Amino acid sequence: MRKLWGGRFKQDTAELVDQFCASLPFDWRLYSYDIAGSIVHARMLARSGIIEQGEGEKIVEGLEQIKQALEAGELAFDRQQDEDIHSFVENRLIELIGPLGGKLHTARSRNDQVALDLRLYLRAEIKELQQGLLNLLKTLLALASVNLDVIMPGYTHLQRAQAVTLAHHLLAYYFMFKRDYQRWQDNLKRVNVLPLGSAALAGTGFPIDREWVAKELGFPALSLNSLDAVSDRDYLIEFLAVAATVVMHLSRLSEELILWASSEFNFIELDDAYATGSSIMPQKKNPDVAELTRGKSGRIYGHLLQLLTTLKGLPLAYNKDLQEDKEGVFDTVDTLQVILKIFPAMLATLKINKGEMAQAATKGFLNATDLADYLAGKGLPFRQAHAVVGRAVLYSLEKGIELEMIPLASWHRLFPELQDYFSEDLAQHLLLKNTVYSRRSLGGTSPEENRRVIEEEKAWLDAEYA
Ligand code: ARG
Repeated sequence: MRKLWGGRFKQDTAELVDQFCASLPFDWRLYSYDIAGSIVHARMLARSGIIEQGEGEKIVEGLEQIKQALEAGELAFDRQQDEDIHSFVENRLIELIGPLGGKLHTARSRNDQVALDLRLYLRAEIKELQQGLLNLLKTLLALASVNLDVIMPGYTHLQRAQAVTLAHHLLAYYFMFKRDYQRWQDNLKRVNVLPLGSAALAGTGFPIDREWVAKELGFPALSLNSLDAVSDRDYLIEFLAVAATVVMHLSRLSEELILWASSEFNFIELDDAYATGSSIMPQKKNPDVAELTRGKSGRIYGHLLQLLTTLKGLPLAYNKDLQEDKEGVFDTVDTLQVILKIFPAMLATLKINKGEMAQAATKGFLNATDLADYLAGKGLPFRQAHAVVGRAVLYSLEKGIELEMIPLASWHRLFPELQDYFSEDLAQHLLLKNTVYSRRSLGGTSPEENRRVIEEEKAWLDAEYA
């Protein structure tokens, strides 16, 4: 293996050590960022008079050639030959343009280089993931707007509680993913800080121009402590924490899709393109995508915990442990990118069994609270109203009926001391549709309120897309 640091050694490292310490098998994917950073660094060295103008140009040309060769498939990453992506690029550069290539590493260390590469990589990936979230948000809004008055049971403790609309349920997820989008937006502020120029750990005596490099690479901020800059991985922790939250939200949505697709619920049917079958049971249509998404949450949580654990005992500044910062992040990015591509399409193609949903809402006393509210509205203290309705539910359970089936005369007979509270308007009040339409409080389930919310969110979404 061709090392960047052979000079002080008399003997080669053991082959197993080479393999154990190498990161090229996974950090090769940073190549375009590594080269982009090196090009700007070389230009800065030339502008600042640290190397000659012509030298800078040759180095930049060499780096561009390497990039082209890699992208054309004319150059491959050889795990046996180079330790990491930084060594790979520098070694190829020296092969290509001779010893001059060795000037590229002036006023730089792999420690600030890898910190830069990761930030460039993550910045691009976060933006991509945010696009995925925007597509998901758009799909949820669109679905909500065509299901504004589709009534379904709302649950607490997975017991039927009060009627809501499907739009309301979908919008709940909309807001979860919107917060996640904003969390990444916030994370980007900490990602977008230039570490290059910190060198190994203490900065450099060369008259470098970090501000210029920052501008060229699109960093609005620069790190102000070189020790911190080469050992900081907080922004990766934040990234993984947001990713863990995203996949947790996806997992909750998945769980509901799985439940809803069961024969027991029968609220939805997945499109064939987003469902799978069984090798033995010919009738099966399985929600594998949702299940696998639920399963993948464990893997992303694992990456977050791994990095926290890797960092917890590290003294300043760079330690080789930090090389363990990449694979979990790469895997998290890959995992979420795919899920975020599949989910919008899977949701958009769902068949919604509106009749089943509405039917389910008619059983289980979902209007019990409405009855209590009705009595409370007429002046009965709510606690007392609650007790009355509790007794009415018991009565209905014995009779095998729902509250709205009790005629006015029976209410008067059942609660003679409360006759004034039960009047003709009760039946209307208990109608499922009216229970839903009446919940017009800000953020409530009524179609009117959700229509307003959707309009507001559409404007937000359009502005984010722009
Ligand atoms: N491959 C290393 C990493 O990923 C690059 C930095 C190496 N620096 C060093 N001083 N060994 O962390």
